[in-house]
Amino acid sequence: MTSTTLGPIPVALASPSIPVVDPDAPLLSVRDLRVWYELKRWGFAHAGDVRAVDGVSFDVARGESLAVVGESGCGKSSLMKAILGLNTPTAGQILFDGRDVSALRKGDLKWFRSQVGYVQQDPFGALPTFMNVKRILEEPLIINGVDDPVERQARIEQALIEVKMSPPAEWLPKFPHMLSGGQQQRVVIARSMILGPKLLVADEPVSMLDASVRVEILKILRKLQEEHNLAVVYITHDLSTVRYFSEHIFVMYAGRIAEMAKVDDILDDASHPYTLALLSASSDPDARNALVQREVPPGEPPSLVHPPAGCRFNPRCAFAMEGVCDEREPPTVEIKDEHLVHCWLYDKEVMGDRPLGVPARKELVDGKPL
Ligand SMILES: Nc1ncnc2c1ncn2[C@@H]1O[C@H](COP(=O)(O)OP(=O)(O)OP(=O)(O)O)[C@@H](O)[C@H]1O
Ligand code: SF4
Ligand SMILES: [Mg+2]
Repeated sequence: MTSTTLGPIPVALASPSIPVVDPDAPLLSVRDLRVWYELKRWGFAHAGDVRAVDGVSFDVARGESLAVVGESGCGKSSLMKAILGLNTPTAGQILFDGRDVSALRKGDLKWFRSQVGYVQQDPFGALPTFMNVKRILEEPLIINGVDDPVERQARIEQALIEVKMSPPAEWLPKFPHMLSGGQQQRVVIARSMILGPKLLVADEPVSMLDASVRVEILKILRKLQEEHNLAVVYITHDLSTVRYFSEHIFVMYAGRIAEMAKVDDILDDASHPYTLALLSASSDPDARNALVQREVPPGEPPSLVHPPAGCRFNPRCAFAMEGVCDEREPPTVEIKDEHLVHCWLYDKEVMGDRPLGVPARKELVDGKPL
């Protein structure tokens, strides 16, 4: 269950060393998260802030997969880095399994790293070139106290089999440069799974791969998620890839969530003008459709230092209402169960007698770009 309208996190759970007792509690809770980067003039004078993530709240249940979708620069990686504890939030809170991520101390950090796997965008850059596959997969086990070499070998082989690198003996002696991009990414995934994490954060895991292997990698991630009851936060700019394994989708625009819903609701009943624009621009990860060209959403993403007043999408929105969208922050409206839209078109007071929602939505979905 995910929502932008969630209440505060219970104080008792906000302390770093108190484990969650309730197995039904969300694995990950993010509340009003802000990640701003300070801009400096002449190296010291404050010149503004890049508001990369600006008030984002959601929960991820155990075993749930969630896709965060949006254009380049909308704040996806900043959100991901905050979840991984690599970015300190400017404001807000992130709780993982009942512990405040930004308050983790040394001992807790080791525990946290074993519980949260990370799949990077560039597999070659993510792998140490001087280590072979065996050493790459063995290192996290050694660091985390798996002292028995027989157990280590068994876990390494199991991890390779799970990412479809069989027989393991064939791959263990290879160095990253001897592997294709798809094979490198499978090693990255095996490494991210080797300690048995509860959450996997995958930042554009297939965007640098050849179209022919993208679907295969997404299916491996989906299988791992199902078999290990793994929660997955899958970050992508490409809406068309999310159907391969996500249950929920967040569409992010300029540091905020524009729309969130179950996958089918977004793909069949997209309701935010930006989501509709993204849908009409998305390509298909299936190699058979690799040559199909689509429109991109027209216009430029806004400045995150001086974002537009009102709705941040208003300068690009075909349905922007003067005096409303360019002045007031839109409300988040639950248009049906677990389907939230951050847009004035769904506000009864503003719309008055007019029908709620995007006019002529069907024609837009049927292929006419906005
Ligand atoms: N360390 C940083 N210092 C200053 N600005 C940053 C920093 N990291 C990111 N930004 C800015 O924050 C904004 C969001 O960046 P982010 O990398 O989170 O976007 P993204 O959605 O992941 O984009 P992409 O799809 O291109 O990876 C961008 O304007 C970016 O230039
Ligand atoms: S609030 Fe207004 S500008 Fe923003 S998406 Fe909705 S209609 Fe468009
Ligand atoms: Mg990114």
